[in-house]
Amino acid sequence: MKKVIIIVILIIFILLAIFGIVTPIVTFKDVNVYVNESLKSNDFVGKVSLGKIVSEKVDTSKLGKLEVEIKIKSFLGITKKYKREYQVIDNIEPSIEAKSEIVVYQGDNIDLLKDAKVQDNYDKDVKLTLEGDYDINKVGEYNLKYIAKDSSGNETSCDLKLKVIAKPVPKPNAPEASKTSKGYAIENRNGVTYVNGILIVNKTYALPKNYGNGLTKETEVAFYKMQTAAKNEGLTLKIVSGFRSYQDQVIVYNDWVNKDGKSVADTYSARAGHSEHQTGLAMDLNWISNRFEDTNEYRWLQANAYKYGFIMRYLKNKQDVTGYIYEPWHYRYVGVELAKELYNNGNWITLEDYLGIDSKYK
Ligand code: DAL
Ligand code: ZN
Repeated sequence: MKKVIIIVILIIFILLAIFGIVTPIVTFKDVNVYVNESLKSNDFVGKVSLGKIVSEKVDTSKLGKLEVEIKIKSFLGITKKYKREYQVIDNIEPSIEAKSEIVVYQGDNIDLLKDAKVQDNYDKDVKLTLEGDYDINKVGEYNLKYIAKDSSGNETSCDLKLKVIAKPVPKPNAPEASKTSKGYAIENRNGVTYVNGILIVNKTYALPKNYGNGLTKETEVAFYKMQTAAKNEGLTLKIVSGFRSYQDQVIVYNDWVNKDGKSVADTYSARAGHSEHQTGLAMDLNWISNRFEDTNEYRWLQANAYKYGFIMRYLKNKQDVTGYIYEPWHYRYVGVELAKELYNNGNWITLEDYLGIDSKYK
């Protein structure tokens, strides 16, 4: 009996010894776990004796408490589970994408926070704040700072210089530089329009009421020269209507309106202020009739007027350009140089086409 007891004790002793030896001896590591870090169960174990770690992926996608289950397979094939607690932490600060300098006008409506983009490795919505003061109504330079902070307290900052500048004040009454469709400058001097330096009067451009006091000296001189030249060839040139004042034109135009009605009168007679006769540069010669075309004087003028600085002003089939029907008798002084250009070797160009302007009542 004593023998049996000894044997049982011995067996128990042996079994305890065997299990005691084959139970793995494990030490764990104290590791820092960072969010989204790629870790396996092995990474948490220091040393294992008489056993093997079952390698498993550990989910580190959430901040805070992390319970890691580590399985160790013993020498005899028994798997033992160990539970260890860790903390998942975030040590990466957010990033800020923003301009370092913003220039705005005084009084502008701005939202500087909207101008910056923030990103974080963990937080979807990172708090962005702006440090520093500025006054949008006061011209100056303001040194500000964007600050982004994630839920773990990681912080990034980024400097921003805000420049508040004065709004440009449009200059009142600044003369507007205007150009014709052909690129010539249109100037208004005391209510008189000059295109490329040439005085222009038509349906678009009018003269002030008090403008003009007879034919200009230059026009007169040029006409007498031309008249003399014609006379030398046995031809008679005479002015039947030269300068007409604003008041003269009121009477002339109204007479035609009473006779033919406004819309017809407008095709051949200028409204007061719009007649070239008020410039002192224009004249009707010899015969106010289309039959003037059948005279030698007309033919001579066609071939020679330009040499004295005169142009035929209202050409045939150019009513849409000049604003008036054909007037074979109406000549305008523009100077020899321009007259030659407009004469164009006998193929007259209208003043409107040449300068790129129109002739329409507003
Ligand atoms: N007959 C021209 C267009 C004028 O009245 O001035
Ligand atoms: Zn005329």
